[in-house]
Amino acid sequence: MSQPDLRIVNPAATFRVIVTKELPGDRWLRLLTAAGCRVEIAQGTDVLGEAEILAAVGDHADAVIGQLTEPWTASLLERLSAAGGRIYSQFAVGYDNVDVEAATQLGLPVGNTPGVLTETTAELAVALTFSAARRVPEGDRMMRAGGYDGWLPDMLLGALLHRRTLGVIGAGRIGAAYSRMMVEGHKMDLVYYDVRVNDELERYVADYAAFLENHDEAPVSCRRATNLNDLLHLADVVSIHAALTPETRHLIGAPELATMKDTAVLVNASRGPLIDEAALVEHCRANPGFRVGMDVYEREPEMAPGLAELENAVLVPHLGSATTWTREGMATLAAANAVAILRGWPVWPAAADAGDVAPFLGGAEPPRAAPSIVNAAELGLARWSG
Ligand code: DGY
Repeated sequence: MSQPDLRIVNPAATFRVIVTKELPGDRWLRLLTAAGCRVEIAQGTDVLGEAEILAAVGDHADAVIGQLTEPWTASLLERLSAAGGRIYSQFAVGYDNVDVEAATQLGLPVGNTPGVLTETTAELAVALTFSAARRVPEGDRMMRAGGYDGWLPDMLLGALLHRRTLGVIGAGRIGAAYSRMMVEGHKMDLVYYDVRVNDELERYVADYAAFLENHDEAPVSCRRATNLNDLLHLADVVSIHAALTPETRHLIGAPELATMKDTAVLVNASRGPLIDEAALVEHCRANPGFRVGMDVYEREPEMAPGLAELENAVLVPHLGSATTWTREGMATLAAANAVAILRGWPVWPAAADAGDVAPFLGGAEPPRAAPSIVNAAELGLARWSG
């Protein structure tokens, strides 16, 4: 079992907190040290496997702040719990790498970081949408290769998205933010697919439609698709914002791709396994007018064979939340979750309801609460009441 190199901060403190990667900013570290934590931070960029994490935890750890790339299986959570762990705090909003059911059975709270990456991730999805639709990386490659010999009427023609139809799969926080950006910015009609009705989003689009009509412009529309094919068939852009679960794995495979317009743009900034990547490569090869913008991959960091060679694919390395403000905020929330559980503080209710974690991110002292514990209700943790 190889012990990762650990940077130790506040060595004489009471609680031992393992952090499996260096995190951006310094507020997270100040929160932990002020709360009496000895913080041990794994160095280097290698993803830690179960053996390395266990070696870092050793005989005793009170909390771990970990990454979405790590295998937080039942066995690892059991070992953390047996070593005295009282919380696993994930530096991410998504937690498909964590066996939350096992954690709950062990009585172990699992923290995550909602709210702070909503607009950031939506903006990246917008960037991918337009990069793919307007062939920005192809133009960039052409310029760098010295291939631009002068303006031509038919060079690198892309797709206009203004007043076209937007299909959003998963209209939760990020999907709704992306929808608003695209509908409001580019006057697109929205079709969304979600198990839940998003009343707030529907009202927002209806109000915007009324605003347009008041300005003598054609309105935009919003409706919830009755089934996925209904959306795929209609949309000029399809953007995926659903969580990865056993039910959503390969939500988009060969049959779904075949249902889409052969000039559509497909964007995924949620989780890679939602798309059957091998089928996507085949589809992009057969349909050069179909374009895809990918932030996430089925077997990260690997890509399916052939993906990197596709001219009609825009590929970035899981950058959805990659802004300084957001990543520092995520670090703050992950630390605040650990501190609150170690200090016996209650759970902030607004995160579960609306992702509202703003009071934790400002300059002032954060509330004495855990910003977001995903299994708080199942564990019967007290809710913050002011
Ligand atoms: C998350 O937090 O789940 C994101 O994927 C990180 O960007």
